[in-house]
Amino acid sequence: MTPTQAADALVFFGATGDLAYKQIFPALQGLLARGLLDMPIIGVAKSGWTLAQLQDRARASLQEHGGVNEAAFARLCAQLQYIDGDYHDPATFTALRAALGPAQHPLHYLAIPPSLFGPVTQALAASGCAQGARIVVEKPFGHDLASAQALNRTIHQVFSEASVFRIDHYLGKEAVQNLLYLRFANGFLEPLLSRDHVQAIQLTMAETFGVAGRGRFYEEVGAIRDVVQNHMLQVLSLLLMDAPAHADHDAIRDSAAALLRAVRTLNPGEVVRGQYQGYTQEPDVAPGSQVETYAALRFHVDSWRWAGVPIDVRVGKRLPVTATAVTVFFKPPPQQMFGDARPSANFLRLHLTPGVQVTLGLNTKRPGAGLHGEADELVLHRQHWDGLAPYERLLGDALAGDLTLFAREDEVEEAWRIVQDVLGSAAPLWPYAPGSWGPPQADALLGPDGPWVNPDPAEGGTLDPPPGPASAPRQASAVGE
Ligand code: BG6
Repeated sequence: MTPTQAADALVFFGATGDLAYKQIFPALQGLLARGLLDMPIIGVAKSGWTLAQLQDRARASLQEHGGVNEAAFARLCAQLQYIDGDYHDPATFTALRAALGPAQHPLHYLAIPPSLFGPVTQALAASGCAQGARIVVEKPFGHDLASAQALNRTIHQVFSEASVFRIDHYLGKEAVQNLLYLRFANGFLEPLLSRDHVQAIQLTMAETFGVAGRGRFYEEVGAIRDVVQNHMLQVLSLLLMDAPAHADHDAIRDSAAALLRAVRTLNPGEVVRGQYQGYTQEPDVAPGSQVETYAALRFHVDSWRWAGVPIDVRVGKRLPVTATAVTVFFKPPPQQMFGDARPSANFLRLHLTPGVQVTLGLNTKRPGAGLHGEADELVLHRQHWDGLAPYERLLGDALAGDLTLFAREDEVEEAWRIVQDVLGSAAPLWPYAPGSWGPPQADALLGPDGPWVNPDPAEGGTLDPPPGPASAPRQASAVGE
């Protein structure tokens, strides 16, 4: 199958599960409403359910996630089929082949634990359901480099790379796609984005909520596996990569993969891990858990373009705001002509969530006598509509066969190589107060490149960091010490 061919049936494994409830049903409704899902929709799970129960579940999912569009929901019910069966039982896949009818290019969405990918892909092949098909798999893809490589080998026994769609929902976000468009649809930014002009880069992904009932999942991953190995490295690759030769999926992914290859493997001495106080009281979390809910990491890109530019990333749960922003600080002018001009006032900031906003920081003169200035932030672009929901966008692209917004095998493996040495307890773990900006130890990581600039979820962003780690109570010892 060529990747440009459109799918003619959609199968989702794990139909009664959490991901289907939170993301897949709303995406299906959106696609049906836009007339993009005129094909059989088949849910597979082992729950002892009936089709009517799955339809009820779909309605409940939509009521909770965006509302029910009755016309689209009626179409969903008419097209939806349900196969209840064990993933290790060949009869489940015989029933699936029968349900697919004349479909030649089914899309199989594996919304199931990675341990089931092997048995399910083998059973798809044995039953004839893999013929002409493609699969969609979720992040995190593997647990570390070795397991990601093993998973790729397992999947490739049945599906070629052009038929594998690895979801990283950050790539489905309007703001993240805008990063690519902004950089390469304009000429003026490119010459500025290099070590000649850039002093430092900061990327922060802050969330006010904790693990929100996902203790079991989080205990297995922690913040670095959950969002750094994938979301943060995808954002960095789009921000730092060289221009792709074309806008086609392989050219874009070639550039992103080349950038990731130049990112130095993280050193535990340049990583600060944190855990919010109270995490170990969350359901399904081990009492002495050493899992991080926060990480601050210094990246280096060993390339002519980025050598020597510190790239600092911070992610965390139970922080003061929910917002993701990346700030590129430009070097100050070679001479300070005006005493009050702030050297760190020149920056390009991209607010990625919530909403999309691009701003430029600069020193401007304050009206009145004398040459006195202030730091200003110029809004270059602001978008209130957040575009299509990421899952709707990505599922639509996978159905159409467009691989651009999906992670390729080499990108995923490079990303694991980068974080490999700081997984688990390689770096000490520090406690932090919920609602603070994380452990104060993260300040030291920046040294003279600090302080951290905190993203502001309100439009307009902020140049001055609100009181953060410096005013939080200092913690004397690492968690578990
Ligand atoms: C998910 C992580 O991939 O991304 C979550 O598992 C995180 O822990 C979420 O909260 C953030 O995504 P978004 O779209 O809400 O910014």
